[in-house]
Amino acid sequence: MTSKASAPGKIILFGEHFVVHGTKAILGAINKRVTIISEKNKSQNISIKSSLGENSIPISESIENVDSMFKPFFFIAKKIINENNFSNGIDMDIQSDIPIGAGLGSSSACCVAAAASISNLFSELEKNQILNIAIEAERTIFPNTSGADCTVSVFGGIIGYQKDSGYKIIETNHEFDFIVVNSKKPHSTSIVVDRVNKFKSSNEKIFRDLCEEETRLIEKVTDSLQTFDLETIGKCMSQNQIFLEQLGVSNDQLLEIIKLIEKETFGAKITGAGDGGCIIALTNKNEKETVFEHMKTEHEAYSVTIDKTGMQVFNAN
Ligand code: PMV
Repeated sequence: MTSKASAPGKIILFGEHFVVHGTKAILGAINKRVTIISEKNKSQNISIKSSLGENSIPISESIENVDSMFKPFFFIAKKIINENNFSNGIDMDIQSDIPIGAGLGSSSACCVAAAASISNLFSELEKNQILNIAIEAERTIFPNTSGADCTVSVFGGIIGYQKDSGYKIIETNHEFDFIVVNSKKPHSTSIVVDRVNKFKSSNEKIFRDLCEEETRLIEKVTDSLQTFDLETIGKCMSQNQIFLEQLGVSNDQLLEIIKLIEKETFGAKITGAGDGGCIIALTNKNEKETVFEHMKTEHEAYSVTIDKTGMQVFNAN
């Protein structure tokens, strides 16, 4: 009996980093997904296969001793095995079209799809239960995660997210078109988050003011997202980029891409932790192909839209 689940990656439209400190962020799920097929096995091992390689641990292994990029997925399998008093292992096969380590939520989407796929081998869980398992798993490698990435991956669409009050879907019937450019510079979310923490400690007032400005920006842009005012949304994205530069998470390479793509779009900014990873730019349907072709000549670029489905679970058979 196998169980299949899939979950989308994400872009952060507004508020990355600030969200870790309690401010609201706006995220969108994207039409790039990870699919996980899991199956109970007759061994005493949890085995994972993906395009990055294969790995296996005994079900008795303590998660603290696991030193693998698959740690969060082993955590999920172990947790669900234990909760269901299952005495054998699980095989997991991960297939993904979300670029890895680029700030597009690949690891969160994997946590969501793994939690959904494995739990479905035993019983059907509510979306919120799957979300909690996914966030707990992500915390095994990134303890400070705000939880925003997993949340948008579970529910899909465009959401407002705040650590204390959770998420709210921003209802809109419009189709948004983005170009995502991958700087191909690897980055570590936890290192950049630590750097922002240091910035906050030595610049308390500046940081507080930036949080307030970000909050005002997000209030304004929430209306523009609903009314599909692309000009205003683009301007707000460029403004958000300036705030991120003030936090020190941008660099010359990212700025070069932004300057290039800004000329042809409504606005552009870093998405995710910064210091590398991806740039997103808001475009419209008619110009999207042209911008995409231009960017593709020098960079790895993707044309993305907002995924409204979120996580999907397919019945075990
Ligand atoms: O680059 P990513 O996809 O890991 O995004 C990180 C977003 C932060 O706001 C910097 C951290 C978080 O947990 O929200």
